[in-house]
Amino acid sequence: MSLLIKNGLIVSSTGRTVGDVYVEGEKIKAIGRDLDFKADEVVDASGKYVLPGVIDPHTHLEMPFMGTTAKDDYKTGTIAAACGGVTTVVDFDLQKKGESIHDCIERKKEWASGKVAVDFSLHPGITDPRPEIIEEVKDAVLEYGTPSFKIFMVYDFRVDDATMIKLLKETKKYGGLVQVHAENFYVIQYMNEILEKEGKLEPYYHAVSRPVLAEEEAIARAVKMVELTDSRIYIVHLSSGRGLYRVKEARDQGLDVFAETCPQYLLLDEERYKEPDFGGAKYVMSPPIRSKENLDELWVGLKMGDLQVVSTDHCPFDFKGGKDMFGKDDYKKIPNGAPGIETLLMLLHTEGVVKGRISLERMVDVLSTSTARMFGLKDKGEIAPGKDADIVVFDPEQKFTITQSKLHMNVDYTPYEGMEMRGMPSVVFSRGKKVAEWRNDHVEFVGEPGWGKFVKRAPFTGF
Ligand code: URP
Ligand code: ZN
Ligand code: ZN
Repeated sequence: MSLLIKNGLIVSSTGRTVGDVYVEGEKIKAIGRDLDFKADEVVDASGKYVLPGVIDPHTHLEMPFMGTTAKDDYKTGTIAAACGGVTTVVDFDLQKKGESIHDCIERKKEWASGKVAVDFSLHPGITDPRPEIIEEVKDAVLEYGTPSFKIFMVYDFRVDDATMIKLLKETKKYGGLVQVHAENFYVIQYMNEILEKEGKLEPYYHAVSRPVLAEEEAIARAVKMVELTDSRIYIVHLSSGRGLYRVKEARDQGLDVFAETCPQYLLLDEERYKEPDFGGAKYVMSPPIRSKENLDELWVGLKMGDLQVVSTDHCPFDFKGGKDMFGKDDYKKIPNGAPGIETLLMLLHTEGVVKGRISLERMVDVLSTSTARMFGLKDKGEIAPGKDADIVVFDPEQKFTITQSKLHMNVDYTPYEGMEMRGMPSVVFSRGKKVAEWRNDHVEFVGEPGWGKFVKRAPFTGF
């Protein structure tokens, strides 16, 4: 199969040019003006952008969590990804007690088998850091193709500082990257006890129980461990201005401290927790969404490069029968997480590019190019000869009002219901195969579950 995309505005992280993209099989073969190739399919991209497929490096597909399971499996989650212009997903794979990293990866690969609609990889989540697990880091980085590991400073499966030190040291040795969920467990425990005594158990108190200083302190502590071990970290789902300040401070010192944020922290503020009829539960995630000033600070961090990546932390639970089933009387029991894999690109374009907060090039960088570099996805993240033909032909003028019934995520709500979008995917290609296209008033999936492949990632080569 060959494909010629004609006359689009081809956007990279460093610039834009009008031209054609020629694809043969699964790879981009040529880029230029008036390319004279005969192709099986020709797409007229006049007036449209030609973007590298988005990479979402933070999802929790089918993850068992807080007594329930995240609702999107590898099929529904990656269909939704394709419809949103996401052509690679790097999913979290939390180790079970007693499990090796190898078995943990093979288990999730098995779940994904025959189901994934776009390419995927895995980040092992280290929750049972036995000595043999620390030793296995070498194989995970160099053989399994999974060179990044998530650790949690909160939840029951958190790691202590001593383990963090060991893991940072070992991971750096082989070219891996440790991703940190940074919140101070004891601050949250203390707040929970106070709120419990006062009978403050509605969803709003989820945010009160996890103050900004819990994130700030944990980031500052993790940074010290990086300094101690001459290693590097990547802070996941950074939510606050003060957290960002700690990242910037470390980077100004020359430390390899990287961070991502997510649309929910850029666009939603803590007032949402006050929605009536338990509606605030829709936004119960950790860290929580913050007060308005934080949102502005995160946009600046994104523009200036102190935040390198935007991910989704897609972890969907139904509102009815999910969020309300477990936590009606106590915010601590509400499953933490929200859906977002399908709305990532449209939100960043509308709220970031159209509103002038970031450039189109910066959007491509934080959604694709830097993400590929950070996580060793060598064949992804750019429209360039030799790269996988993961391409989004994007109509910057297409309007869309976000509503759950026109999205594909297997969940009963979206946090962005009613928001007006400008700019939507027209056609999405995964390794040259059409997987989604705009039809009538929304994007439709036209791919095949099972098409997606597991991608072995390369060690980190610097940023
Ligand atoms: O609330 C969240 N973020 N749920 C998913 C698990 C995690 O910590 O990323
Ligand atoms: Zn987390
Ligand atoms: Zn997460």
